[in-house]
Amino acid sequence: MSQFHQSDPRILGRRTLEGSFRHLVARLGPGMSVLDAGCGTGSITAGMARRVGATGRVKGIDRDAALIAIARRDHREQANLSFDPCDISEANFESEFDVVSAARTLQWIGDPPAALANMVKAAKPGGLIAVLDYDHTTSLWIPAPPRSFQSFYHAFLDWRSANGWDNRIAVHLRDLFESAGLENVEVLDSDEVYSDAGSEIWLKVIESLGPALRQGGFNFDPAVEVEYSRWLAEGFEGQVLSMKTAFGTKPKPLAPRYR
Ligand SMILES: C[S@@+](CC[C@H](N)C(=O)[O-])C[C@H]1O[C@@H](n2cnc3c(N)ncnc32)[C@H](O)[C@@H]1O
Repeated sequence: MSQFHQSDPRILGRRTLEGSFRHLVARLGPGMSVLDAGCGTGSITAGMARRVGATGRVKGIDRDAALIAIARRDHREQANLSFDPCDISEANFESEFDVVSAARTLQWIGDPPAALANMVKAAKPGGLIAVLDYDHTTSLWIPAPPRSFQSFYHAFLDWRSANGWDNRIAVHLRDLFESAGLENVEVLDSDEVYSDAGSEIWLKVIESLGPALRQGGFNFDPAVEVEYSRWLAEGFEGQVLSMKTAFGTKPKPLAPRYR
């Protein structure tokens, strides 16, 4: 079973820091250094760079070199922003960043504790770790989507589980953060609510991931694209993607007299 999936740049490119990682905004300020793990096309990362300003710096990393190429092309005018191909599970940054973030990234990693440990290593003592991610099992479509879509979504969840990816990573973030030794752990509800064309995201997911699901033997009703499009046009009222943001700080070493 492949441990790799490709995110659709059409979906990633529409995101913004303010709209798609909103709880992080107030935690970023001028002069900060930020590492964004799993930056994709860099849309959210570019918002971070604007927020930390000319005296700050932001580095986006992603294991998908094609997405890094798009990020470099689309954001080349921002001098305080750089992008590198790099797997966060193999990264070797040490105590370099004020903030280390990962949005919608741990959901695609088979060993989240190892990835989080590397994020913690990359942060300065006292630095902030920020993770935003999904609970795919509690997302909602209103009214219920067509049965063909339900068959696709079940196949999607089964395919993810078979690859070792946690469908409920959002609700496991507190435990992950506490086990990683982080302090001041805070977990905030961060659901994404769509009442408009934003829910076309699933048409793109069907198109981009459908072949990988079928290749893995996770079959679904081929009528899904036509029926889901019709449902979006005629029946759709809303959609809620169930998400959480976790924050924690890397402990500072104790002063010598307390050792
Ligand atoms: C759903 S996209 C999210 C992109 C962006 N952070 C956002 O919220 O729109 C997940 C990204 O994580 C990347 N990714 C997955 N596993 C990774 C890893 N181990 N190291 C670095 N990037 C990874 C994928 O290539 C993909 O670009």
